[in-house]
Order: sequence, then structure tokens, then C-alpha cells
Amino acid sequence: MSVHKKPIKKITTHQLQEMKNRGEKISMLTAYDFSMAKLVDASGVDVILVGDSASNVMAGHETTLPITLDQMIYHASAVVRAVERALVVVDIPFGSYQGNSSEALRSSIRIMKESGGHAVKMEGGAEIQESIKRILSAGIPVMGHLGLTPQSIYKFGTYTVRAKEEAEAEKLIEDAKILEECGCFSIVLEKIPADLAKRVAEEVNIPIIGIGAGPYVDGQVLVLHDLLGITTEFKPRFLRHYARLDTVITEAIGKYVEDVKNIEFPNEDEMY
Ligand code: KIV
Repeated sequence: MSVHKKPIKKITTHQLQEMKNRGEKISMLTAYDFSMAKLVDASGVDVILVGDSASNVMAGHETTLPITLDQMIYHASAVVRAVERALVVVDIPFGSYQGNSSEALRSSIRIMKESGGHAVKMEGGAEIQESIKRILSAGIPVMGHLGLTPQSIYKFGTYTVRAKEEAEAEKLIEDAKILEECGCFSIVLEKIPADLAKRVAEEVNIPIIGIGAGPYVDGQVLVLHDLLGITTEFKPRFLRHYARLDTVITEAIGKYVEDVKNIEFPNEDEMY
């Protein structure tokens, strides 16, 4: 008798749209390596973002600017090898798409070909529409990112809430509509007032995923290491710690160090 494993139904961009249409919220979380991505996928997250926040979380940089396209591809390919169900979206890093639409297309093709990711994400509105259309024409799904866009941190000068003023709010709504018209399958809205995010989610038809954008959107995204309480210095109001792994990890490692020093590890059962 052969035992057939039930095939896993993979999440697609079309399914995300159907989820918005029927009012089912979308869960999205970052991952940057094989082991964590396996756990995130097994936990039922719909979308895994290989975010350029890897620059902060994995490499210890202050901003997302230093991470390179090669490094993003390295992280993304490890994540793709682990994932069976979630849609894997990969950030196009700073400096590899802003030049022109050919550069944007080249970088996106490298990400798709070399990592096996399912879609790319890029920051910006009207100013990158030509690049978005060019990438889409190659059959690569694009997720947009508006509001606080960390790749522009030196233009903003601060990580504070964006689009509190009328003019910036109107521009954000206009940009969201442009991204939808270009063919983006979804948009991330980062750190903007909840009422503005609600307006965007109502006025555009594609799924809107929020981070620090309140509950009236189609889904939520967080950085995995923030949610798990591994990175503890970063404490924005929107962040909820679902665990405090910093203490779990340091206590476990502290115990290991103690056992090594006291010659209590390894014991008789742990040797050959
Ligand atoms: O890089 C990242 O992790 C992101 C999320 C904060 C949305 O872009």
C-alpha cells in the first residue's frame, strides 16, 4: 500500500486577492534563513518577505542601505529552499533599481532566477512606475511599499510616522492608485495613520498590508526577530512581542557555558 502525502496548496498572488475580496486577513512575516523560514512556513504564514531589513537584523547595519543584491539573493535562496506553502517576496535592495527601468528589470530577473523567489518588492510611487511596468512585462509580480520607506531614511531624516500632513497623505493615496494601475499585486503601507491606511484599503482593490498602519487594512507584516523578542532595542508603538526569546536564548546558552565549566556537559549518555 502506498501512502500519499496530501499536496500542500501553495499561496499565490491570486489567492491573496481572493482573501481581500472575501475579507480574510493576510499574515506576512520576514525571514532571512533556511531554519527560521521552515518554522515560519510551518506556522501558517501566508507571505514570507525576505526583507532588506536583513541589513539590520542579520548584518547589524544601522540602515537597510548597505545590503547588496548578491546578499539578498543569498538570503532569499535559503528561504525558498525551506518554504512549501507561503508566497516568498524578495526586496530589491537600495541601489539596484533606482537607476533606470533596465537596471530594475535586470535586478528582478537575477532575484527570480538565482533565488527562486515568487515576487519582488520595491519602495516608491509614481517615480518608479516605469520600472514596475517593465518588471511586470517580464512576468514578475511586484509588491509596492509606501509610507515610511526605509531606503529613503536620509531624505526623511527620521523614522517617525509619515503622511500626517494633508499633502503627503493625498500624494500617498495617488501613489497607491498608480501602483494598482501599473499592476502591482499588493502594497505594504509602513508607519502611517490608521485612518489614512483605511482609506487606501478602501480606495484600491489590491491587498494592502500594514506595518504600523492600524487594523483597517487587508493584512499585517512584522519583522520576525522583533515579533519573537530577539531584537529588543527596537520598540516602536506598533510592535507586539509574541515571545521574549532574548531571555530564553541567553538563559539556555548561559546554562550550557556553566555545564561546560563544571564538566557537567557532556555526560555518560552524551559520549561514544
Ligand atoms: O524589509 C522589511 O522587513 C520590510 C518590512 C518592514 C515591510 O520592508
